[in-house]
Amino acid sequence: MTAFNDRTTPMSLLLSRRSGKARDMIAPGPDDAQLQRILTAAARVPDHGKLAPWRFVIVPESERDALSGALDAIYVTEKPEAGRIEREAIRDFARQAPTLVVTLFRPKPESHIPLAEQAASAAAATMTLAHAAHAEGFASCWLTGWAAYSESVTRLFGEPGDSIVGFMFLGTPAKPLEERPRPALEDIVSVWSAA
Ligand SMILES: Cc1cc2nc3c(=O)[nH]c(=O)nc-3n(C[C@H](O)[C@H](O)[C@H](O)COP(=O)(O)O)c2cc1C
Repeated sequence: MTAFNDRTTPMSLLLSRRSGKARDMIAPGPDDAQLQRILTAAARVPDHGKLAPWRFVIVPESERDALSGALDAIYVTEKPEAGRIEREAIRDFARQAPTLVVTLFRPKPESHIPLAEQAASAAAATMTLAHAAHAEGFASCWLTGWAAYSESVTRLFGEPGDSIVGFMFLGTPAKPLEERPRPALEDIVSVWSAA
């Protein structure tokens, strides 16, 4: 098993990435120059038709409390029966980790490129952001949950028609990252033959 911080070669970097828990991420997060590099890498993904059907919205630390309040307000509107513990979890969501980037899928429905391909590019951009964060020495956590599927929350970040691909939390893990079982190659790889 490759150690989670083995970044010595391009391949060990890919083999060692694993998610951190957003709630266990502490400072430092990426500085401005590191975040620019991470986003530059994330924008460098296959993109059929050169549509750039993705956007990255940085939520600075100074805006986290405002986002937390906005999510809570939307949550109680959508789920008036929500209890105290549920609402606390929603408020805490936006305060996790030193760095938060929301990745958006901004489809171009007028294009002849199938929407599924555009969505695949947006997912690739989000995953590349995770790898780039790892390359810069940080853990990442890709979260969705209720907030990613609420139209009102999506409107906080994007335009009509956008959807949230992920809340990408980045930072330094406070605890060693846990590995999880990975699929065995024999279960997911096959060799095609005409016969
Ligand atoms: C689109 C997407 C959404 C996800 N949303 C959540 C989520 O809301 N909550 C969660 O615990 N994990 C979520 N995950 C899973 C974690 O990001 C992560 O993949 C998982 O913890 C395993 O870590 P690994 O990256 O080391 O495999 C999501 C993953 C993807 C691809």
